[in-house]
Amino acid sequence: MKILAIESSCDETAAAVVEDGRKVLSNIVASQIEEHKLYGGVVPEIASRRHIESISGVVDEALSAANLDFGDIDAVAVTYAPGLIGALLVGVSYAKGLAMVSKKPLVPVHHIAGHIAANYITHPELEPPFLCLVVSGGHSHIVEVKNYTEYRVIGRTRDDAAGECFDKVARVLGFPYPGGRYIDEAAKKGDRTAYKFPHPKLSGCEYDFSFSGLKTAVINLVHNAEQRGEPLLTEDVAASFQKTVADILGEKLCAAAKALNAEKIVVAGGVSANSAIRAKMKKIADSVGAGLYLPELKYCGDNAAMIGAQAYYDFLAGRRADESLNAVATLSLEDISTDFGRQI
Ligand code: KG4
Ligand code: ZN
Repeated sequence: MKILAIESSCDETAAAVVEDGRKVLSNIVASQIEEHKLYGGVVPEIASRRHIESISGVVDEALSAANLDFGDIDAVAVTYAPGLIGALLVGVSYAKGLAMVSKKPLVPVHHIAGHIAANYITHPELEPPFLCLVVSGGHSHIVEVKNYTEYRVIGRTRDDAAGECFDKVARVLGFPYPGGRYIDEAAKKGDRTAYKFPHPKLSGCEYDFSFSGLKTAVINLVHNAEQRGEPLLTEDVAASFQKTVADILGEKLCAAAKALNAEKIVVAGGVSANSAIRAKMKKIADSVGAGLYLPELKYCGDNAAMIGAQAYYDFLAGRRADESLNAVATLSLEDISTDFGRQI
C-alpha cells in the first residue's frame, strides 16, 4: 500500500511516499529555517505563508521522485496535530482537497506518533510494545508504546522541552536558531566536566522532566561572566550543558525502563540526533539489558516519511478522516480519538 504523506506542523514543508509503513519511496523536505533564523525562532505567520507557497511543489516532487502518478497512491495522510495552527491548516487543507477530489482515504496522523514511527523505517524488525523517549523542539515525553496506535505517556516535561532548552542555551552562547546541532558540534571540542549544572528535583511523577532550572543556570553563568568581563569557553559550556541534559534524560529513562521491564528502548524526535544523547541511551539500554533503536539522522527532525510510516498502521487500525477534519494545536498522544480535530 502506497501512502502520500504531508507534514507542515512547524517550519518544514514536507511530503513523502511510503510503502507499507516501512519503505520510503521518496522524502522531500523544504526547510524554512534560513528565514526564521533572522528572527531567532519560528515566526508562525511566515511559516504558514511559506507552507502555502511550497506545498504543491513539494507534493509534486515527492510523487516524481517516487516515479509515481497520483493515481498510483492508495491513501493520503497528513499531520493534523499538534503544532502551529496556521501551519497545520495548510497541510490539512491540501490533503483534504487531494483526498476529496480523488475519493482516496484520508488518514490523520499525530505528529509525535510520526516521530516514533520514524524508527519503523530505520529498523524494519522493530515492533511494539516498547518504551520510547520522545525529545523534540516542543515535547519531552517518556511513552509506553503498547501497540502501533496506543500509547501511555508516563513522563512529560513540566516546563521547557529538551529541544527548546537546547535552542535557548544556544542563543545565549551566540549560535543561530535552531541551535541544538551547533551545541552538539561545539561540545565535541569542549570539556564536559568543566561546569556542574543542577539536576531538577521534582516531587510527584518520578518520570517527569524539568529543564527550565538548567536553562536558567546556563544563562546566569554566561551573563555573570560577561558582566565581570571573564572569558568563558563556549565549547566547555556546551559540553557540560549537553552532558547534563543527557544525564537527566538517561536517569528518568533508566528508572522507567526498570519499572516497566522494557526489552526495547526507542528514541525519537529532533533531539535524538544529538550525539551525547545517543551515546547515553546506548549505555542505559545496555545497563538494563534492552535493545536500543535510534532513528537514522535524516529521520530525526521533521519529515513526512515518518508520517507516512505511522499512517499505514493508523490506516490498518481503521483511522480515517472526512472533509470535517480540522487541525489541532495541542493534543496529547493519549487523547487521539476518532473525532479528528472536532474537539477544538
Ligand atoms: O522534532 P523536531 O524537528 O521538531 C519538533 O517537532 O519540535 O525537533 C527540533 C529540535 C530543535 O530544538 C533542534 O535544536 C533540536 O531538535 N536538534 C538538536 C540536534 N539536532 C536538532 N538538539 C540537540 N542536538 C542535535 N544534534
Ligand atoms: Zn517534530
